[in-house]
Amino acid sequence: MPRKVIVIGAGPAGYVCAIRLAQLGQEVTVVEKEYVGGVCLNVGCIPSKAMIAAGALMSRAHEASAMGITFKDMKVDIGKLVEWKAGIVGKLTGGIAGLLKNHKVPVVMGTASLKDKNTVVVKTKDGEQILKGDDIVIATGSIPIEIPGFAFDEDKVWSSTGALRPKKIPEHLVVIGGGYIGLELGIMYRKLGSKVTVLEATPGALPGQERDCVRVIERSLKKMGVELLTETMAQGFEHKGGKSYVRIKTKKGEDTVVCDQVLSTVGRRPFSAGLGLEKAGLAVDAKGFLAVDKHMRTKVANIYAIGDIAGQPMLAHKGSKEGLVAAAVIAGQKDEYDARCVPAVIFTSPEMASVGLTEEQCKEKGLTYKTGSFPFAASGRAMSLMETDGMVKMIVDAKTDEILGVHMVGPEVTELIAEAALAIEMGATAEDIARTIHAHPTLPEALMEAAEAVHGMAVHIYQKK
Ligand code: FAD
Ligand code: NAI
Repeated sequence: MPRKVIVIGAGPAGYVCAIRLAQLGQEVTVVEKEYVGGVCLNVGCIPSKAMIAAGALMSRAHEASAMGITFKDMKVDIGKLVEWKAGIVGKLTGGIAGLLKNHKVPVVMGTASLKDKNTVVVKTKDGEQILKGDDIVIATGSIPIEIPGFAFDEDKVWSSTGALRPKKIPEHLVVIGGGYIGLELGIMYRKLGSKVTVLEATPGALPGQERDCVRVIERSLKKMGVELLTETMAQGFEHKGGKSYVRIKTKKGEDTVVCDQVLSTVGRRPFSAGLGLEKAGLAVDAKGFLAVDKHMRTKVANIYAIGDIAGQPMLAHKGSKEGLVAAAVIAGQKDEYDARCVPAVIFTSPEMASVGLTEEQCKEKGLTYKTGSFPFAASGRAMSLMETDGMVKMIVDAKTDEILGVHMVGPEVTELIAEAALAIEMGATAEDIARTIHAHPTLPEALMEAAEAVHGMAVHIYQKK
């Protein structure tokens, strides 16, 4: 007998779970309050990467003069750019709606809340619908955090959503928060022509990421003319004469930055408001997440949680993986979330990517480890692409040679990280990577050389004994 399953939320966690449930013969209904595809496809991963690609193309076109190629009268038509981006979002979300339809998964557009552990009430524009399920999967995602004094009005103060549908390119953009979104979108606006100031509370950009890689990003921000003010807090702002006067507190005291646009990106928090969790015997933890076991079950056995609502890291691919696990478990298969690592990719300039432990985390865990690095400046392929900033750093267990972490900054590293993630999942050693023939001339050779560098044997850099 197929199980009746209700999936609440059609983001990359929820829709992936629903499709897999249907593939496994279960009877699934999806409830979605706003948009099929969730944050990721509509106002997150996809539209941001589309706009970032446009910024990158502009800046590449400027740099091409070094190759003897010049462009005249380069301009951005922001309306057309936003329309192009919306077209990509439309194709992808339409594709997901089509896949759900082909799998015979009905999508009820409305806001779901739990009545008890088997009943979901959906408020739709035409009234209420009651759905009964053997199992319920909660995939309600996350929303951006607002800080005092900077309520999102998507006019003077943008969240990432406002920043992805601009009416014009700001002359001077102040970004609050130098994390994933702040740097990705801050750099994009710089490339499209804005002056950009990033205010970051901690002593450096991208807290928690491998510091050797972050240093390359910080240097690149400087080169691009993005001002990064660290240990700086935004206190509030006044808007007069078409300008916003942002009051900031730094180590040196208080100051004001004058700009015409503020973008606040200080993190996201799990979203479960109005879901009626208590009616099913559930409650979120202090950070707003729903605790789950390795089968993605909450403490109520027939209710599962996946994606951003189920804990860090709040990344689309982690949510999708959890969706696949929950679907398999509901369908009666033996499965569990046992990923050894979750890769992270940051579309800065240059790009950054990492998987596994950082050096700092190895130290905290008291591990004995060795590292090897290879700079893209020594890669023929990076040179031919005119993108030599950055490096690949590998961290391995000093005794077993097993790869513990790989951190990269440089050209196309958001693609290159897949090999490192596979290596860690397979329990590979640095020697395994070093012995694997990598095609020449390609960027992945840098990973092979970093693996060789762990043993002091990198061929294309001189390593002092
Ligand atoms: P969501 O995508 O948030 O989907 C949840 C869905 O549930 C939403 O559609 C919502 O409307 C619906 N919902 C909520 N409550 C209810 C309810 N009561 N009833 C019915 N429906 C409900 N991650 C990456 O891995 N790579 C990236 O490059 C990346 N870029 C990003 C860029 C930006 C600007 C942002 C904001 C995020 C980015 N992320 C990225 C993060 C990524 O978008 C999230 O991790 C991912 O969307 C989480 O998926 P989810 O399915 O858990 O939740
Ligand atoms: P974030 O957690 O990445 O960064 C927030 C930054 O704001 C941190 O550096 C923090 O120190 C700083 N901060 C916090 N409060 C502050 C304050 N009052 N003043 C100044 N700085 C302050 O959060 P972000 O950028 O909003 O992104 C949210 C999440 O979305 C990410 O953590 C990630 O999970 C996901 N995401 C993933 C992307 C990717 O995979 N490429 C891209 C964009 C988002």
